[in-house]
Amino acid sequence: MESGLEDVVAAETVLSHVDGKRGELIIRGFSLDALAGRRFEEIVGLLFGGFFAALPDDDGIAAGLAAARRRAFAEIGAIDEKLTSMPTTDAVRALVARLADADDLESAFNLLGATAVFTPAVIRRKAGLAPEPPRPDLGHSADVLAMLTGRPPSPVAAAALDTYLVTVADHGLNASTFTARVIASTRAGLTSSVLGAISALKGPLHGGAPGPVLDMLDAIAVPARAEGWIEAALDRRERLMGFGHRIYRVRDPRADALKAAVRRMAAEGAIDPARFALAEAVEAAALAILRRRKPDRPLDVNVEFYTALLLEALGFPREAFTAVFAMGRTAGWIAHAREQAATQRLIRPQSVYVGPAPRAAA
Ligand code: ACO
Repeated sequence: MESGLEDVVAAETVLSHVDGKRGELIIRGFSLDALAGRRFEEIVGLLFGGFFAALPDDDGIAAGLAAARRRAFAEIGAIDEKLTSMPTTDAVRALVARLADADDLESAFNLLGATAVFTPAVIRRKAGLAPEPPRPDLGHSADVLAMLTGRPPSPVAAAALDTYLVTVADHGLNASTFTARVIASTRAGLTSSVLGAISALKGPLHGGAPGPVLDMLDAIAVPARAEGWIEAALDRRERLMGFGHRIYRVRDPRADALKAAVRRMAAEGAIDPARFALAEAVEAAALAILRRRKPDRPLDVNVEFYTALLLEALGFPREAFTAVFAMGRTAGWIAHAREQAATQRLIRPQSVYVGPAPRAAA
């Protein structure tokens, strides 16, 4: 058997399809390219459709999310010193664990509101700043940025966060989504599914890579050093963060959506052009070196590489990037949890015993 289960089909889903050979991501019948300009609220509606009775239209979803952000903000008194000393993703997970564990639409909105409110609140508390309350007149992404910085964002910044949240909202049966589905199959509530999924997401092989991408860019510092640094890292048998993927054998289409968003930010002066040029130089050097060193294994840019630049430019600290990822992916986790629960079938695979044969007790 493959210990990474790469050949196992473990669910039927109407939610998303990852075509690794063609480099395509389809979400409910739409390619990512067609969705990348939409607001996060619309993608929540797209993913939740059919999984909740009486799902409101996009305006109703926007209002539901705004109300959930308000409810989440009422809980920020729970951010104590112990939580602020933890990594942001761990602190957000601990705060999410305090939510009721139900299966209805209000719980789903509460989970989306919680990740959106707790992430900027924890970041601000860590910086010694008071959390900023949500503003009901702002859309979900704009409000997250306002809660982070204390002022309404520029349209280009709000659009960039929308692009990011939409781009990462769902992606087939990745490790965290599978975790969410396993938990949902036991009939635990949505909060349990999301908590398990956050825990799976935070590892560096899944959603924990974009922070280390920035560490790599900082270490390389100037384009001329990219090649030497990358060769030395690969000689040490390290992996280059932001490259490679279990499914994609060509470029991750999410990388293109995010690079386009970063390019738009650079054109508006929202990203330091030197930073963008460094990232492009590192991308080009890494691709050339990986192709030469691993001719049989196509390794290309994945979602995390330009995520790093985009979230840095929006003002998120790198150690909090995984929590921002969770903000978007929570929509997909919830939809998958509902889809799995509807099958009413417990997920319970088997293992092959390779330990010692039965023996008498000593
Ligand atoms: N840098 C250098 N070499 C790599 C990389 C990389 N980023 N990714 C894979 N390889 C190499 C492996 O060392 C291996 O070489 P070997 O056969 O000589 O040992 C070969 O390519 C195949 O690697 P696998 O481990 O089989 O690939 P897998 O499908 O398990 O890996 C993964 C996918 C975990 C994403 C991997 O590419 C990786 O570690 N990337 C870096 C971390 C990262 O960017 N994670 C974010 C992924 S996107 C997401 O989850 C949201």
